[in-house]
Amino acid sequence: MQYFNRGPAGLEVENVPLTRIAEQFGTPCYIYSRAALTDAYEALDQALAGLPHLICYAIKANSTLAILNLFARLGSGFDIVSGGELQRVLAAGGDPGKIVFSGVGKTEHEMKQALRARIACFNVESESELYRLNAVSGAMEMRAPISLRVNPDVDPKTHPYISTGLKDNKFGVAFQDARRLYKLAVTLPHVRAVGIDCHIGSQITDLSPFREAFAKVLSLVDELAGDGVVLEHLDLGGGLGIRYRDEIPLALADYARTIYQAVGSRTLKIILEPGRSLVGNAGILLTRVEYLKPGGTRNFAIVDAAMNDLLRPALYEAWHDVQPVRVRDSAKQAWEIVGPVCESADFLAQGRDLAIEEGDLLAVMSAGAYGMSMSSNYNSRPRSPEVMVDGERTHLIRSREPIASLYSLEQTLPA
Ligand code: LLP
Repeated sequence: MQYFNRGPAGLEVENVPLTRIAEQFGTPCYIYSRAALTDAYEALDQALAGLPHLICYAIKANSTLAILNLFARLGSGFDIVSGGELQRVLAAGGDPGKIVFSGVGKTEHEMKQALRARIACFNVESESELYRLNAVSGAMEMRAPISLRVNPDVDPKTHPYISTGLKDNKFGVAFQDARRLYKLAVTLPHVRAVGIDCHIGSQITDLSPFREAFAKVLSLVDELAGDGVVLEHLDLGGGLGIRYRDEIPLALADYARTIYQAVGSRTLKIILEPGRSLVGNAGILLTRVEYLKPGGTRNFAIVDAAMNDLLRPALYEAWHDVQPVRVRDSAKQAWEIVGPVCESADFLAQGRDLAIEEGDLLAVMSAGAYGMSMSSNYNSRPRSPEVMVDGERTHLIRSREPIASLYSLEQTLPA
């Protein structure tokens, strides 16, 4: 099914024209297709049907409550990286028994919060964290379920900022230390080793790094079993790439087969932590052209969305397709699509051939992942509203931020 189509009124999300959404909610605005979110979840879930598994949606990709709630209703678990994300999942009706907690810097407070909520597993990323968690859960007279995030030292062949499983990255415990740390973990009275996990990077479109990482982690599982450490689950992280431009995403059947082949006859529950692949292509950022500024060397189209709304182009030089909502017949020109923020890096797209006029609406595609969740208030810009489309219906799932809320926690100095 196509979730973004061209109809008589231009580009539509499911059955709702974007022109209508712009009128009703203004721009810039994030818009999601409920069907696209649901289908992405269900396709992965079905691909894994042959093994006991749990999808733990990595909420950093998009942590808006309605999206979390939708996934919770579909049976999803959640991968969190902070106490704030835990609180969001609980507020959205997520099941704490399906939460895994990743991240290199868990504070004592966050550990307590997660123990109190009785999450499914702490993905421990260092020896110090193991000791700290043992102490915190001991003080609460509890036993924390843990998995060690091992760093398989595999090159995911993706952008350097989003590869996480190389030995130079800050993530996880070194592969060669893992066995010793599991042996240590079983001697600690207030942790219980239940699983093992890895996450090698993001936007991966090649099976071989996954295959290599899974094989390494499973060889460790076998060595550990030989040591008497029998694990219940194997968390293979996230990382599945999507199509932004011309990338060819992995077929889910091939990805699942790689998992099946790696796991073989072992009895392990599989946990996955996908973020981008569940939400990335389900969302767009709708923006309006404020000014056209044709120039000597470059033509600038200044739009009302900016790097504070969608940081990926500025931060990673990420490429997002830009579609005019209504197509014009006039001649195309190459445009730099830039925002109003006072930074030269404030661009959403560069050198795009478009026929546009001031006032036109543009859709920045594939903006569902790491769009809203990485947005900020830089230049005192209120964050965009978010709208979920469901067939003919639209639901406002986040209102545009009132400007006063941007400084509501601030005080001027006393007289
Ligand atoms: N699990 C862990 C431990 C992670 O660190 C991540 C992402 C995921 C799961 C989800 O990965 P995904 O399925 O989304 O690839 N802001 C960057 C992406 C950073 C990804 C960080 N970790 C971007 O906009 O491309």
